[in-house]
Amino acid sequence: MKLLVINGPNLNMLGIREPALYGKADYKALEALVRETCHAQGIDVDIVQSNHEGAIVDAIQSALGRYDGIVINPAAYTHTSIAILDALKAVGLPAVEVHISDISRREPFRQLSYPALACVKSIMGQGLDGYRQAILFLSSLIQNTSSST
Ligand code: DQA
Repeated sequence: MKLLVINGPNLNMLGIREPALYGKADYKALEALVRETCHAQGIDVDIVQSNHEGAIVDAIQSALGRYDGIVINPAAYTHTSIAILDALKAVGLPAVEVHISDISRREPFRQLSYPALACVKSIMGQGLDGYRQAILFLSSLIQNTSSST
């Protein structure tokens, strides 16, 4: 099984950026958690981070035929990007949306998620552990889907 983990704008600033909201762990710690979780499950993983909407759309499109599922934190593009929603719909891969903070309890403009409309699950407010939960969820979903076909 191969997963693609995509992180959107400003997530490379983890640890520096608003630690009261996003914690003190930096982006390298997030990458390490993702790699360790996948390694323990025997999953191959690639991780990409971009501050550019089009690059995120390109990454989603390039996942088709190469990955079994996507974990995505579109960051601020969550609340604006129909292009990311459309890309997720276009490739049709199972995708889980992750937010470090609980966007349902923040400003009204953060409470709408376009990509959620194309995701099998949204995990929010769990800190970096949300990525671990997303990987485990996708892994069992993909295993169950492939064993029933
Ligand atoms: C975020 C929440 C978004 O509203 C925000 O723009 C981010 C991070 C989160 O992980 O909690 O950049 O996606």
